[in-house]
Amino acid sequence: MNRQRIRLKVNGQAYDTLCSENATLLTLLREDLGLTGTKEGCGAGECGACTVILNGRPVNSCMVLALECQDSEVRTIEGETVNGGLSDLQKAFIEHNALQCGFCTPGMIMSARALLDKNPSPTREDICEALEGNLCRCTGYEPIIAAVLSAAGGEVNE
Ligand code: FES
Ligand code: FES
Repeated sequence: MNRQRIRLKVNGQAYDTLCSENATLLTLLREDLGLTGTKEGCGAGECGACTVILNGRPVNSCMVLALECQDSEVRTIEGETVNGGLSDLQKAFIEHNALQCGFCTPGMIMSARALLDKNPSPTREDICEALEGNLCRCTGYEPIIAAVLSAAGGEVNE
């Protein structure tokens, strides 16, 4: 298959590699760059498990062609850690029991991160809107909303 050169930055690190014309950003991240924190759920833009931040916006990486990301900046769950430790947002997920199986969690956290970057003091409604494309089969969503509110310094009624 015809492979083409792609250059992009992921979590601040520059990559210059080859990928096939029809490879998705999800495939590039997981299979070519070895960044397996981003998960594949539906593979069809429905579940949000594969969410990453592309040039500041959350996207379903299963629906983006890798070659469309030429010279782009991508952030994945691997970039969420701070000095090798968990970020405040990740700690809040643990504190509020916002994960069970954890499969949705990388995508949830990237959607929440994109929201907090844009709006550091979101309301509950802002959070629900930002996470509406991320499905979770385990938690019932309330602990996730509480975790994001708490990471933003908001009041949490549990
Ligand atoms: S795996 Fe991409 S939206 Fe479900
Ligand atoms: S924690 Fe299992 S799908 Fe969300």
